[in-house]
Order: sequence, then C-alpha cells, then structure tokens
Amino acid sequence: MPVTTCVFDAYGTLFDVAAAAREAAGEPGRDALAARWRELAEHWRQKQLQYTWLRAVSGTHADFWEVTQNGLDWALEKTGLDGQAELRERLLALYWELAAYPEVPGMLGALKAAGRTTAILSNGSPAMLAGAVDSAGLGDMLDDVLSVESVGVFKPHAGVYDLVGQRFGCDRNEVLFVSSNGWDAAAASGFGFTTAWVNRAGDPMDRLPWTPQHVLPDLTGIPALAGVE
Ligand code: LAC
Repeated sequence: MPVTTCVFDAYGTLFDVAAAAREAAGEPGRDALAARWRELAEHWRQKQLQYTWLRAVSGTHADFWEVTQNGLDWALEKTGLDGQAELRERLLALYWELAAYPEVPGMLGALKAAGRTTAILSNGSPAMLAGAVDSAGLGDMLDDVLSVESVGVFKPHAGVYDLVGQRFGCDRNEVLFVSSNGWDAAAASGFGFTTAWVNRAGDPMDRLPWTPQHVLPDLTGIPALAGVE
C-alpha cells in the first residue's frame, strides 16, 4: 500500500531533548551545569523513559509531565546538581520549548505539499506537545497531535499505536511511523506500521521481537520513504 499517513514520535525525533540542558548550560553563572550537562541530559532522558515503561507495566499511569519531572529530579541528584530550585525550574521551562531539529520544517513541508497526512503520536501530554509544536512553529504542518493521554498508558502499548487508525481511518499498512527511539519504531513495526528508525547516534539495533524496516541518520530521507521525491 502507498503511504498516506506519516506519523512522528515527538521527543528525540522532532524535538531535541538534549536542548534544554545544553541551552541552560550556556547561560551565565552555570559553571557546574556546563561541566555536566551531557551527563545530566542522558540520565534525564533514560530515567524519564524507564519511568514510562515501569508505570505502563505496573498500571500506575501518570502523565508525561510528571514523569519528566521525576526523571529530572533523579538526574539532578545523580549529577550532584540537586538543591537548586531555580535551575530545576529553568530546565523544566526549557523543556516546553525544545528546539526542533533543523531539517524538520522542510521535511514536514514536503510531505504536506505532496498531500500526505502528518501527525505526532507521543507520550507527551497534550499541553506539553502544544507548547513544543507552537514554539517550533510546526502547527501548520501537522494535521493532528495525538497524545497517549487519550488511552492512559505509555508506548509501546498497542492501544497507543491504534490511535492513528481511529483518528485518520487509515489501514496500518498505509502508515509510515518515524521514531528516534529504536524500541518505539520496533514496536510500531510489530503493530503493523511501516517504520523508520532515526538513529542519529549510530546506536546498535534493539534486541526485540520486531525490527524497523528503515534506518536513517536523520529526517531528510523521510519524504522519499513516503513516495515523495
Ligand atoms: C515520545 C517519546 C517516546 O515522544 O519520545 O513519545
């Protein structure tokens, strides 16, 4: 089936999750953060994701904003940057306006110009996603922004991927799903989407029961995968 619908993960895929720590580290008076921002960003992301999986398997859902704060608090303590309320608030504020990767507007614009349906499907809460989409100026290039909050469980629960067909009435085999999270792309393949894993870091393939069909270094090759030249 030709691709009619292109669906994107948000955090790490369209939006650079390391941008909050990197940007704060460049501000005056943040020497301690400047020395450890990469480590902080990595711990923050890993804990945030672990908490989503743990909450999903234990049936104790909390929205992504709460999980993001929990992950940050663990990471700040781990890196010895805890106890600074102003720094914590600054990092959280920056998470609401994360930079999009530079190729995102051109890539989404090409898909829209060719008549493809485009959407985000994310763990993010609706308010967080609206903040990120607005600050990156992507609203006009997306037909919808779908949040796991509609089903109350995080990825990779099948109920999350099912939101796409419910919203757009498309078959699974018409959907190209794009994620920088290898496990997300893999699980979406298992669900029946065609998938692209955006592997910017050159990470090894996740050892899971499913495999993404495509692996790309960034998002510039997405229009071609959707049949748009
Ligand atoms: C998301 C996380 C997985 O946006 O990055 O859903």
